[in-house]
Amino acid sequence: MTDLLWTERVSTFYGASQILYDIDLALQENRTVALLGRNGAGKSTTMKMLAGILPARRGRIFFAGRDITEAPPHARAQLGLAYVPEDRQVFPEHSVEDNLLIAAKRGPDGRQEWILARIWDTFPLLANLRSRQAGRLSGGEQQLLVIARALMGNPLVLLLDEPSEGLAPVVVAVIGKVLRELGASGATILLAEQNMHFCLRIAEEALVIDKGKVVHRQDTVGLAANEDIRRRYLAM
Ligand SMILES: Nc1ncnc2c1ncn2[C@@H]1O[C@H](COP(=O)(O)OP(=O)(O)OP(=O)(O)O)[C@@H](O)[C@H]1O
Ligand SMILES: [Mg+2]
Repeated sequence: MTDLLWTERVSTFYGASQILYDIDLALQENRTVALLGRNGAGKSTTMKMLAGILPARRGRIFFAGRDITEAPPHARAQLGLAYVPEDRQVFPEHSVEDNLLIAAKRGPDGRQEWILARIWDTFPLLANLRSRQAGRLSGGEQQLLVIARALMGNPLVLLLDEPSEGLAPVVVAVIGKVLRELGASGATILLAEQNMHFCLRIAEEALVIDKGKVVHRQDTVGLAANEDIRRRYLAM
């Protein structure tokens, strides 16, 4: 298995304050890895660093064999790195279908696995809402839409920042099912979450982040049984 996305000792700052310390992470092709941590641990900052929104002041970032440390966000997206931020921004005036079509493009390798028909199959809830204005969707429906929209670009890697946050359990279950199906169909996903239980049946492996440092790595099943680490670094 090859690493598709990895970092070497990346440090990131907001102004003078250091937020990330020597982050080493690796995401293999066809795997889902969870980035777990409490509120303020540095999950979103890590995602922004990978997406190119926040510069790495030290260290290197590699994607699909290239050094992308200096590459701006649009160049990373062009290479197949899809970032779904936590704010679930849709084009509110446009229909669900148009939100998806706006994002349609071939992948960096020319592939076109994700077309509208496959989105409707994978996201039946969105199929039923295809003509609805995106601004009128519930939070959970918007979360599904931004994941689907990212897929329409046929990316190599999905970076998902807290897709379950603030959503009702029934919607969280729908999102979990979709992510499991994506993983089974060969998607490569980095999933930032506070909710370890949500990640359990989705990600094979978890990185635990605390105060901007990766403090633990374990398979998710092992982590679920690791009371010490959970008590120290995760909210539960
Ligand atoms: N724009 C900013 N300017 C300065 N500090 C920031 C900024 N955004 C985040 N931080 C700080 O960086 C640290 C990490 O924040 P980050 O948003 O990455 O955490 P998180 O793990 O995503 O948390 P949450 O679960 O609440 O989303 C926190 O201490 C936060 O206060
Ligand atoms: Mg966050």
